[in-house]
Amino acid sequence: MSQVLVVGSINMDLVVHVAQFPRLGETLFGQSFATYHGGKGANQAVAAARLGAQVTMIGRVGDDAFGQELIAALADEGINTEWLSQSKNQATGIAAITLAGSDNAIIVVPGANADLSPADLLAAEAAFINADVVLAQLESPMDTIEMAAQLAARHNKPFILNPAPAMPLSTALLEQVSLLTPNEYELATALGLPEADWQASLAAHPGKVLMTAGQDGAYYTNAQGELQQQASYTVTAIDTTGAGDTFNGALAAFWHLGLAEASKMACAAGALSVTQAGAQGGMPTLAQLQAFLAANDAKELV
Ligand code: RIB
Repeated sequence: MSQVLVVGSINMDLVVHVAQFPRLGETLFGQSFATYHGGKGANQAVAAARLGAQVTMIGRVGDDAFGQELIAALADEGINTEWLSQSKNQATGIAAITLAGSDNAIIVVPGANADLSPADLLAAEAAFINADVVLAQLESPMDTIEMAAQLAARHNKPFILNPAPAMPLSTALLEQVSLLTPNEYELATALGLPEADWQASLAAHPGKVLMTAGQDGAYYTNAQGELQQQASYTVTAIDTTGAGDTFNGALAAFWHLGLAEASKMACAAGALSVTQAGAQGGMPTLAQLQAFLAANDAKELV
């Protein structure tokens, strides 16, 4: 069983369903409202934990009801919450999510996530020592992410960075990343290159960049410099929120299997995740993932 350390955000997702996205200045009636546990960091931690990894998370919530609920939910998933703390002067992070069909538009208010500091990570250095793999995203301050990369390097741990939401990355940070997992837009933003150049970007970083491509699955360049595609799986999408997070959590959980096998598991887990409402609703357990893969492999043989 892998020991996965996740450094990242914890949000309460406030989700409104609408028939169509409102235009600027327009007021629409929504169809329903619900709250779900979210945040890219927490989502990735839950995805890895459901798939059997031993997960520890470093993050921050506010000293409020959302924060207490979110920490309790992570503990219920079997995640080690020893390094989660509550900020006194910030509210728990929230994401205002509008869902139209299976498409979403998201506004994140970081709240206490913005307080997660390099000092918090240094205080939790033991968690880096105990990890097999470290996973982070970009909903935490950049100096904190850079510290995560440094601590992973100091203790010789692979560092997977999901560069979402999209922002440019420093050369120093990129050098410490074992695997970058952007979508096409995030890849261009992270490397400061035109979107159309994604194949060249992957070729320039063999084995170091894996690009997720929605229904086209994922692309990376292997150590021999050959472009590889891991196909996606066909499902009926209910809510695509958290699909990328499920992919990343699964990738970390199965890191020890190598990139080809881990990306296959991650594509299948990501596909299953969209079949239920909420970022974490459809994230599969290991047994559910294995059953799904067995059913799909059987279909391929027919
Ligand atoms: O990736 C999906 C997540 O992004 C949501 O859960 C929301 O909290 C935002 O952080």
